[in-house]
Amino acid sequence: MGSTKEIHSISESKLISGGSAGPTKDLSRNSELPGSYRISDILPHGPDDPNPLIRPNIETTMVWADHPSVAGHIYHLESTPRRPDLSRGDNFLLYYNGAINDQGRETDPGDSTFFKAVNKQGEMLSNCRVLWKGVEFVKRPRTAYWERLIVSPEFQGRQIGTAMGIYVLDLIFYRSEAYNGFPATEVRGSTYVDKLASGVGEGHVGFDRNELFLRSFGFEKDGNTMDMEDGRTIQPWKLTLSKYEAARPTVVKSLEEDQPERKEHSESTWPGFRENLRAKDPTYAKNFTT
Ligand SMILES: CC(C)(COP(=O)(O)OP(=O)(O)OC[C@H]1O[C@@H](n2cnc3c(N)ncnc32)[C@H](O)[C@@H]1OP(=O)(O)O)[C@@H](O)C(=O)NCCC(=O)NCCS
Repeated sequence: MGSTKEIHSISESKLISGGSAGPTKDLSRNSELPGSYRISDILPHGPDDPNPLIRPNIETTMVWADHPSVAGHIYHLESTPRRPDLSRGDNFLLYYNGAINDQGRETDPGDSTFFKAVNKQGEMLSNCRVLWKGVEFVKRPRTAYWERLIVSPEFQGRQIGTAMGIYVLDLIFYRSEAYNGFPATEVRGSTYVDKLASGVGEGHVGFDRNELFLRSFGFEKDGNTMDMEDGRTIQPWKLTLSKYEAARPTVVKSLEEDQPERKEHSESTWPGFRENLRAKDPTYAKNFTT
């Protein structure tokens, strides 16, 4: 999983270094196409498929990262303390190759899966990463870490993040084999909850959005907020499989208006996912309820 085949090497990356693209570049080009906010596909289809993010996707993500609706809520890869010598583009490539996490710490590319949602025109609407293990706080058994979910600033609030979340969490909880052949039973994540993420300023969105968003899947606060080395403050979150199963029918229903095809897909795939896990995992089978 997490193959980097499609991503150019760091030494080739000079073209996108510097990151001079302004926050609104390219953000209006899709808005006149009807339904261009609808997800037509989410990649990878399977946990072992290659990394779906190609270089133009990383360039687009660099533009998204500067947008006021995104900027205060994600780690700024170019400010990683580990590699201050590298350009912005090179730091982005390192991250989207799976070589560093969003705190700049080294990770094994084999421990990551990157996800990408596209519309009918093949244009990227959202991307994110799952770390299966290999960082200190996910060394617990069968715990995955969900990181850096970004929806195109042009299309936020259209249930794209929700549809991505359901797909990614289904893969984490039912389909991956990262833990000695078994999927994860718990997911962790974190959100920024400080002044920079407070939503003050034109185009900014407050961190209560992310809290509502995570709670819709059944996430709960995992302890108190934490002050980080870089001066920022985060709130850790966790989600267990049983909380996800309780929340899933309602969150899937919320796709009805803007992502009806994803709703149908999410509803039709779930019984099979549950049945497969039941056949495979005795602990799940023991607690299984319909
Ligand atoms: C957070 C993010 C991933 C959500 O994706 P999205 O496609 O915009 O959100 P959805 O349309 O799926 O909304 C899901 C829920 O989130 C909450 N939400 C979304 N936008 C919101 C806003 N502007 N204000 C308050 N709540 C909001 C709501 O509870 C919403 O449910 P509802 O539509 O039933 O009210 C997206 O806005 C984003 O990329 N933000 C910037 C990056 C970021 O913050 N990443 C961290 C994510 S934890």
